[in-house]
Amino acid sequence: MRPTPPVPLTRAPAPAPAPATTTVGIVGGGPAGLLLARLLHRSGIDSVVLESRDRAYVERRQRAGILEQGTADTLRECGAGERMDRQGLVHHGIHLRYDGRSHRVDFPALTGRSVLVYAQTEVVKDLIALQLADGGPLVFGARALAVHGADTARPVIRYAHGGREHTLTCDYVVGCDGFHGVTRDAVPGRARRTYERGYPYSWLGVLADVPPSCDELVYAHSARGFALFSMRSPTVSRLYLQVPNGTDPADWPDERIWDELDARSATDGPWELARGPITAKSVLPMRSVVTEPMRYGRVLLAGDAAHIVPPTGAKGLNLAASDVTELARAFARLKDTGATDLLDGWSAGCLRRVWRAEHFSYFMTTTLHTDPAQSAFDTRLQIAQLDRIASAPHAAAELAENYTGLPLARFAPAAVAPA
Ligand code: FAD
Ligand code: DHB
Repeated sequence: MRPTPPVPLTRAPAPAPAPATTTVGIVGGGPAGLLLARLLHRSGIDSVVLESRDRAYVERRQRAGILEQGTADTLRECGAGERMDRQGLVHHGIHLRYDGRSHRVDFPALTGRSVLVYAQTEVVKDLIALQLADGGPLVFGARALAVHGADTARPVIRYAHGGREHTLTCDYVVGCDGFHGVTRDAVPGRARRTYERGYPYSWLGVLADVPPSCDELVYAHSARGFALFSMRSPTVSRLYLQVPNGTDPADWPDERIWDELDARSATDGPWELARGPITAKSVLPMRSVVTEPMRYGRVLLAGDAAHIVPPTGAKGLNLAASDVTELARAFARLKDTGATDLLDGWSAGCLRRVWRAEHFSYFMTTTLHTDPAQSAFDTRLQIAQLDRIASAPHAAAELAENYTGLPLARFAPAAVAPA
């Protein structure tokens, strides 16, 4: 019998190899890294994005849901606004629920601005599609091992991809590799300082196939702990419950989650919580962290690689977007004029904005959550603060301004220089 001829193997087209050199090497393909790559591409600056995970993982990772107007504008400017403008939900306010009462904070009346509900997963999908269609290289499964030579003219990213080690030599390296990334380690310990604070609670976050019970977000303070009622679309709810640190989501069957959401959102006014199938559950720890400075030589840190906020107030994704929007502007100026002034002032400008957001996120978190060690006195202080927001327009305006996003110009060096 004649041997059967070997079947020709059909191979998937090999991914284009990443170049060995680039102008801006970006570690991390989360929202910060992807947005930076798009903004640089529009200014004619080449970059390479190295992302340790695969595309499906990055596109599925459930995280933030609220875009400030400035973040939405930047996404539009870089061509990623089309689906966002079709599917995103414009929100003009939030509800604060406490002590059996509900108070609506009206954003346009207080600030002239609003926010957009459009999930981080969708932002990331849109940016990846654009980057792969006409942008520079984006390499999935490329895990940065270390960044060398931050204080030289040509820093190098050493990374693993396809079972081998590679190097990418850059003019600048931007670490957009999140809280657990490696780029931060390129800055010597003596040149950086980290400020941090922990919280004695976490969030249990769930997705549910049920229309949101309110057409705006509800932030609920209760003696049983905080609860947040958000959404992903007109048919999908995103809900959060304050839980003790170390909570196992398996200890929270669906009925227990719905009962607790119900109990924490009780109000004297009209309200009925619609229940439905829960499709995802996870526990998110909370911390506040800032690393200073955000630049050392030719290595820069942006987004969660440089700072973390607790999620109450939805600042994390928006801060990351502001960091890279300003950074892209600084690189464009350097390319067009040779001037390094924006790049030199970038870290200090970002840090002013970051510390404002740190304070706001801390304020929202500690005002709305119940610390297991808090006294009845502490609870009365929280209620007094929430009452102040409900009754004094300037107190509500302070919340609304921070929530909808302070204009970037507010943090330009001239804005804080002595008169
Ligand atoms: P990330 O999104 O963390 O992206 C970093 C990227 O770098 C990732 O894709 C990672 O895979 C990649 N990476 C890491 N290490 C390496 C390496 N060595 N080499 C190559 N690539 C690497 N904010 C809110 O406002 N509201 C929320 O509800 C909310 N929920 C959150 C839930 C979770 C579980 C987390 C972790 C964050 C949440 N945040 C939330 C914060 C918000 O999602 C982040 O601020 C935002 O993702 C920051 O974007 P980033 O691009 O800086 O970092
Ligand atoms: C969402 C998350 C937040 O932290 C927040 O303050 C508001 C909304 C969300 O995931 O929808």
